Amino acid sequence: MVSKPLAVVTGAGWWESNSPGLGWAIALELADAGHEVVVLDKELAPAEKSAADLRQKGFAAHAMALDVTQAAGAKAVIDEIAAKFGRLDALANAAALTMHRWGLKPFHEITPEQCDLEIDITLRGALNVTRAALPHMYKAGRGSVVFVGSVLAFDPAPKQVVYGLCKAALVSVASSLAGEAGPHGVRVNCVCPGIMKTRVTDKLPPNYMEVFLKRTALGRISDPREVGRVVRFLCSEQASYVNGVSIRVDGGQTGAM
Ligand SMILES: NC(=O)c1ccc[n+]([C@@H]2O[C@H](COP(=O)([O-])OP(=O)(O)OC[C@H]3O[C@@H](n4cnc5c(N)ncnc54)[C@H](O)[C@@H]3O)[C@@H](O)[C@H]2O)c1
Repeated sequence: MVSKPLAVVTGAGWWESNSPGLGWAIALELADAGHEVVVLDKELAPAEKSAADLRQKGFAAHAMALDVTQAAGAKAVIDEIAAKFGRLDALANAAALTMHRWGLKPFHEITPEQCDLEIDITLRGALNVTRAALPHMYKAGRGSVVFVGSVLAFDPAPKQVVYGLCKAALVSVASSLAGEAGPHGVRVNCVCPGIMKTRVTDKLPPNYMEVFLKRTALGRISDPREVGRVVRFLCSEQASYVNGVSIRVDGGQTGAM
C-alpha cells in the first residue's frame, strides 16, 4: 500500500474557546489534499484538539508538543517524526508570537526581552524546525517547506516593528534557502497573509480592524482556510515549478496604514 505524504505544521494547535488559527487551517487543507498530518504546538492540549478535529473529519492526524524556540527539541521531534513515519514531505511553519501578547506598542516601549522573545518564536523558531526537517527531505530528494510571513513583511508596520522584521526576514529566508534546497529537489516558499479571522484578530481593537478593512480591496477579513489553500497549492505537484517566492494572500491591499 502506498503511504500518504506526511505533512508537519507548527503552531497548528486550536486553543480552547478561541477561533482556530491559520496552522489548523493549513493542517486541514493539507489533510484534505491527501496528507497524513502531524500537528505541533507548544502545548499538547491545543495540538490534540486540532488533530482530534481532523480525525473527526475523517483524516489521519497526530499531535505532538514542540516549543519551536528550542533548537535541540525541534531536531528531536522532527527526527522522531521522520523515524516513526519514514517520510517527511511537507513542512509549514505557522508558529509565531502573534501581536497583542503585550499589545500594539511603539518600538521604544518594547523591552529588549520582549523583542528577543518575538524574534525567538517568530523567526528563530521557523529556522529551528526547518533546519531539522531539511536533511530528511534532502535524503528523500523531495519536499516542500512553507514559511508564514505577513503583508507586514512588505508594508509599514507601526507598533509591530519587531513582528514585521521577523516576517520580512522569513521572506528573505524563503528566497535564499530555495537556492540551496532546489538542487536537492526541495522547494521553499512563503505565504504572506493579510488580515484573517483567528483568535488574534478576535481581540483586535475595533479602530485597528477598520483601518485594515478600509485598505483591503475585497472589503472583508479572510477565512484562514483561504490562506491554507495557498499553502496546499504550494505543497502540491501543481506548484512543482514554484520555488523561492512569497505570495501575498491579502484580498488586494491598497495604500499604507
Ligand atoms: N491573524 C492574522 O491576521 C495574521 C496575518 C498575517 C500573518 N499571520 C500569521 O499566521 C500565523 C498564525 O497566526 P494566527 O492568527 O493563527 O495566530 P495564533 O496565535 O493562533 O497562532 C500562532 C500559534 O503559534 C503557537 N506558538 C506560539 N509560540 C510557540 C512556540 N514557542 N512554540 C510552538 N508554537 C508556538 C501558538 O500557540 C499558536 O497556536 C502566524 O505565523 C502569524 O504571524 C496571521
